[in-house]
Amino acid sequence: MKITGSKRLEQLGSAIFAEVAEWKEQVKSQGIDVIDLGIGSPDQPPSPKVIEALVNAVSNPSNYGYPTSEGSLPFRQAVARWYKHRFAVELDPNHEILALMGSQDGLAHLAMAIADPGDVALVPDPGYPIYSASLVLAGVTAYTMALRAEHNFLPQLERIPLEIAKQAKFMLLNYPSNPLSAVADRAFFEQVVAYAVKHQIIIAHDLAYSEMTFDGFEPLSILQIPGAKDIAVEFHSLSKSFNMAGCRLAFMVGNASVVQALRTLKSNIDYGVFLAIQEAGIAALEEDMTHEFTVAEQYEKRRNLVINGLREVGWEIPLPKATMFIWAPIPQGWTSRQISREILFATGVVVIPGDAFGSEGEGYVRIALVQSEERLAEAVRRIGRFLKMAKTSSDV
Ligand SMILES: Cc1ncc(COP(=O)(O)O)c(C=O)c1O
Repeated sequence: MKITGSKRLEQLGSAIFAEVAEWKEQVKSQGIDVIDLGIGSPDQPPSPKVIEALVNAVSNPSNYGYPTSEGSLPFRQAVARWYKHRFAVELDPNHEILALMGSQDGLAHLAMAIADPGDVALVPDPGYPIYSASLVLAGVTAYTMALRAEHNFLPQLERIPLEIAKQAKFMLLNYPSNPLSAVADRAFFEQVVAYAVKHQIIIAHDLAYSEMTFDGFEPLSILQIPGAKDIAVEFHSLSKSFNMAGCRLAFMVGNASVVQALRTLKSNIDYGVFLAIQEAGIAALEEDMTHEFTVAEQYEKRRNLVINGLREVGWEIPLPKATMFIWAPIPQGWTSRQISREILFATGVVVIPGDAFGSEGEGYVRIALVQSEERLAEAVRRIGRFLKMAKTSSDV
């Protein structure tokens, strides 16, 4: 019997990521030294205090029972303290906080928890891929909001047709953004909250990159906007902020009914995060409140190195205010996929074609700053040589 996956599987994710992985293997097999600036996986470990907390917690025999799917009370209390410290937002650990096995876990399941097949959700294009994939899993119809440079990569809410706004169950947003590295200000969040209240739309804001902002930019929690808790939830992850991507620990906070809905769904699916990991998470949040650990400085240096280096070789890219990504408009005469492939085969540097994140990403590539400064400088040198060669051959 020939077994094929469900039709749903065919609609999941972007085939481009698989394609890039295949190119990378081909290049590696040719013996070329690959510098991978593709996937946004932090290259640094968590702080020594966090590792120490994890080691101690792993050694505690009482941490080996089933955890609870909503997260331990001490973890949720630590999240509440951190949100107050970081954003001056008060949260009730019993009703407004849910632990997650990575924010991917929560984002993947949210649509199933709060919407029904045939409902409509508003998603950004370009956007982080699980947003659209979660809608496929839940049978929810996507209405894509184009994010363009001329509007600072913010959705134009007034362009959403009224019938769509009336039907929409929820909206996904992500600032600072992956892949765009765009940020949003208070005026935008106020506009979004007013829009959501008017049309009774739940807002799910993904704040995975709040701890990676530069040049003094202060990111906002949507929950800082008065009235937001009536309609909004926010996701945060320890993956990027504390270099804990492999630990799988994150949380969703905000509107108690949405928290309850996702908690109910997840209590049918999993038993929560290993207690030892939650203890390490508490250590990370506590340490952050004493300002002993920050990832932003390192990414800011890397950003400057790459942006300045590429400018010197003639590739002008706007300076991002946040995230571990550079969203680079590509030189004329290429498609995103062509230039990503050519850069990889000619230089061994992996970047992701912008259209992997939605059709509006065409014309861009995403560069992840997940290598040491030395390796990034080498990547810039190689790309510089590539651009020079490409220019020379197009001049001929
Ligand atoms: C915008 C955004 N949201 C969510 C995630 C998922 O992170 P995690 O599941 O590790 O918390 C990522 C990871 O790259 C991301 O970029």
